[in-house]
Amino acid sequence: MTEFRDKVVYQIYPKSFKDSNKDGFGDLQGVIEKLDYLQELGIDYIWITPVFPSPQKDNGYDVADYCAIDPRFGTMADMEELIRESGRRGIGLMLDMVFNHTSTAHEWFQRAMAGEKEYQDYYIFKEGAPDRAPTNWQSKFGGSAWEYVPQLGKWYLHLFDVTQADLNWENPRVREALKKVILFWKKKGIRGFRFDVVNLISKPEIYEDDHEGDGRRFYSDGPHIHEYLKELTRDTGIEELVTVGEMSSTRLEACARYSNPQERELSMCFHFHHLKVDYRDGDKWALMEPDRRALKKLFEQWQTGMQSQGGWSALFWCNHDQPRIVSRFGDEGRYWKESAKMLAASIHLMRGTPYIYQGEELGMTNAHYSRVEQYRDVESLNYYMILLGQGKTKEEALAILAARSRDNSRTPMQWSSETYGGFSEKEPWIAVPDSYQKINAAAQRYDDSSIFSFYKKLIALRREKAVISQGSIAFLAPDNADVLAYRRQWEGEELVVLNNLTAEETTVTAEPAWTAYRKILGNYEDIAAGAERQERPAGQADKVTGSRPDRMGERMAEGRIVLRPYETVVLEK
Ligand code: GLC
Repeated sequence: MTEFRDKVVYQIYPKSFKDSNKDGFGDLQGVIEKLDYLQELGIDYIWITPVFPSPQKDNGYDVADYCAIDPRFGTMADMEELIRESGRRGIGLMLDMVFNHTSTAHEWFQRAMAGEKEYQDYYIFKEGAPDRAPTNWQSKFGGSAWEYVPQLGKWYLHLFDVTQADLNWENPRVREALKKVILFWKKKGIRGFRFDVVNLISKPEIYEDDHEGDGRRFYSDGPHIHEYLKELTRDTGIEELVTVGEMSSTRLEACARYSNPQERELSMCFHFHHLKVDYRDGDKWALMEPDRRALKKLFEQWQTGMQSQGGWSALFWCNHDQPRIVSRFGDEGRYWKESAKMLAASIHLMRGTPYIYQGEELGMTNAHYSRVEQYRDVESLNYYMILLGQGKTKEEALAILAARSRDNSRTPMQWSSETYGGFSEKEPWIAVPDSYQKINAAAQRYDDSSIFSFYKKLIALRREKAVISQGSIAFLAPDNADVLAYRRQWEGEELVVLNNLTAEETTVTAEPAWTAYRKILGNYEDIAAGAERQERPAGQADKVTGSRPDRMGERMAEGRIVLRPYETVVLEK
């Protein structure tokens, strides 16, 4: 089924979404409280990051029990209520399945440590001398990917934190156990699944040193990955739900296959190439201005490549692992609103299913922490030490964290200008950025010119115009690296989307036919501005209609259009 193509997913990081029981830590009842807000925004699915029992070494991505709820988040009854209440509002709930690894606190790992052979086989244990790891592979959070267990005389593999032990998917018992987890949640009425780093589950037959990199080329899109995904989908019937795989260091051909409906693996893929254009030499911890030419090229390559190979992409700028996009590729100052809206339109109108990460619809910015004590993320804290070890000063290391830390997106959701941004009445587990006074939901919800209202319009537009969800894509303006422009076409319908990625005015070559096109959305002179602003009943999306005369014709002179700073313009044939 491909009916997820006209849907929009909203990602919730529950720990930072809304605290209902005043412990400074977000929870499921908090999510339930805010469902009306989400219904008003108009989204179809909520993807909620892990709420399972967990030591929280990696904020829940270290799962100790896949079929229960961590008391910090609430109870199973709360989860059932959330499923029910979302369903009542036409919203499906998607759970986050972390199947590449479990927490070392998981019963399986505990039994392995206690010497049970059967459970050692659930993980990747290798014999070896205590002073020499089986390979030189590096953990994604820094340091060796292997940990020695003296009482067993063996090493175990952990591609992430030392408390996240990789599962052995070659063992059919592991695969069966994980299928049971899916069936358990499916029965409860879960409408979809996000699979964490799922393209890392198939490890190579031979474990060898990587002399070219950190080992990832041996296990990313590994040898049996397509087989495993097909089997999982076939045996759990998740094809009728929506599924998305998070693909780490992946290849286009692999992603096209994971998400081609004929392959019966997954609905769609997250791939990250466009979010590395500000990594110097591919190094996340080496700062660089975003390379817009590369960004444009990558979008073109992935969008047209996925299209020609029948794949489907998840469209996103933000998630709980990425800094805030407006701070990263936009402007937090003078053009805060314009750039946030331009970034929204540029991603939502490509070919794929858009994902909005909590607070993105408000233009939330980076945390701007200035002390290492303010950080919580294991990756940030590890890299802070690594950077100091490399000879960086504290100031330099803090400047890198301020730009790159995953905590930038994990700060509490800014609901209002009240204490702690209306997230909680108690001091939250992670500090609220100062920006909450200005940037918050209460200030934007009923303002038709707000970033929130712009997201609402984008979602409504997707419902109204099949060309957005079904159409083909072709890229325009190849000569201007500052402009991300594309054309969508479907059964005679056509949209042209022009995005100025910079704070300077820029010009694009216009096709003569465009003079007759209608501007249906923009971030300057928004069409609904000045026009009727009606309070609509919750759940009913804004209808986007051209209520203002379009001015594009006037702006097109000698075959060129001047785009204002961070301007986005959507033209319809
Ligand atoms: C994914 C998650 C990230 C987590 C990692 C390990 O990348 O998005 O938050 O740390 O997997 O589970």
